[in-house]
Amino acid sequence: MSLFRKKDLSAAVAETREKGQLKRALGPFDLTMLGIGAVIGTGIFVLTGTGALKAGPALSVSFVIAAIACAFSALAYAEFASMAPVSGSAYTYSYATLGELIAWIIGWDLVLEYLFAVSSVSAGWSGYFQSLLSGFGIDLPLALTAAPGALGENVITYFNLPAFVIVMLLTFLLSRGITESKKANNIMVIIKLVVILLFIFVGVKYVKPENWVPFTPFGLEGVFSAAALVFFAFVGFDAVAAAAEETRNPKRDLPIGLLASLAICALLYVIVSLVMTGIVPYMDFENNISHPISLALQVAGANWFAGVVDLGAIMGMTTVMLVMLYGQTRIFFSMSRDGLLPKVFSRVHRQYRTPYGSTWILGTIAAFAGGLIPLDRLAELVNIGTLFAFAIVSVGVIVLRKTRPDLPRAFRCPGVPVVPLIAVGACLFLISKLEVITWAAFGIWFLIGLGVYFSYSQKHSMLNELSQ
Ligand code: ALA
Repeated sequence: MSLFRKKDLSAAVAETREKGQLKRALGPFDLTMLGIGAVIGTGIFVLTGTGALKAGPALSVSFVIAAIACAFSALAYAEFASMAPVSGSAYTYSYATLGELIAWIIGWDLVLEYLFAVSSVSAGWSGYFQSLLSGFGIDLPLALTAAPGALGENVITYFNLPAFVIVMLLTFLLSRGITESKKANNIMVIIKLVVILLFIFVGVKYVKPENWVPFTPFGLEGVFSAAALVFFAFVGFDAVAAAAEETRNPKRDLPIGLLASLAICALLYVIVSLVMTGIVPYMDFENNISHPISLALQVAGANWFAGVVDLGAIMGMTTVMLVMLYGQTRIFFSMSRDGLLPKVFSRVHRQYRTPYGSTWILGTIAAFAGGLIPLDRLAELVNIGTLFAFAIVSVGVIVLRKTRPDLPRAFRCPGVPVVPLIAVGACLFLISKLEVITWAAFGIWFLIGLGVYFSYSQKHSMLNELSQ
């Protein structure tokens, strides 16, 4: 039975109170900015190239499909977040509802979402950084510009050096306790949004509608498999749920923050992908998939502006990496506090007040993964991890309505159980459209996780002490 022992949700909430309440400073606007800050990055600036090769101009439809899966899951997240404003997000929710083993699996699974998101975004960052450098006439040695195999079989590359370096730099910053202040985040997000809006307004003049014909050259299958890939562009909006403890009026503001950031991103993504495939015939992305948005501007002859987009993209992707690496250290922090991971992950540095060792261990792993594994592979892994977590959180909402109907829910997901079930269905559908090798990697990751659980976590769980 110990596999399904549960952490008491009220106790989890009380635990956060013991350590002093966080300041409730965030309103709906800040939450929306936080969501957009964590969301807009590699998905739109890089993966749209590969997405266009899979779906053709119908890539915009792929974005809509991915957004629908996220919207239904967001409602489930909003209910949990408003009910249990605790750190650890999906991991903590499932510890309270589905028991320790599932919680462990989710925590382990979230590594794929958070840690590998950092790695994949670093690879995207590297593409734009190199494009910016070459604008100044500086070219890095080819072998150090990408992960092995990332540029095709005929181009020999060993390591993505810029990707590695940026993650190590951010790790250094985070380990020193860089507080993502509301203001800095809001400024970066505004720059990112301005660049995207400018792209739309400048780019639309160069659209040639004939490039949209045929609209679905690879049929529905192509649209779906692109949706499973560009789902990546929405990863990170669940970071809004993690801010529940710092929200002034969670009941009203959390659902607004979650859904508004999703809606804004979805709208921008759809328009950007339409403009992009309207400027560049989709086949042409074959030659350059590392920075498709600035490629579109180069094709349009707006070279000066391509440089501006490069800069905006670089800034935007930097905030995504920071938020995701921060999120990863906080999830491992909760797991370690519960005894499921070694204490090093919850040890706090005396001077910097950050999980110092944990930040360096996780940051270094993310940096090497970014240097060694090609972006598309990583992005699909991130997606399968995130989709799986969304599905479990949605099931969790249904379970908790049955087992703990008494708990006050500041926000109630509408249409339970139908809405969460649609979320589960949509997530499983997108998982089914990912590549077989991604499922295999996920399976291996899952088995390693079970190995760690049975050899370490089960024996060290804090719940052992409670049950004695
Ligand atoms: N959604 C984030 C991005 O696209 C992870 O970079």
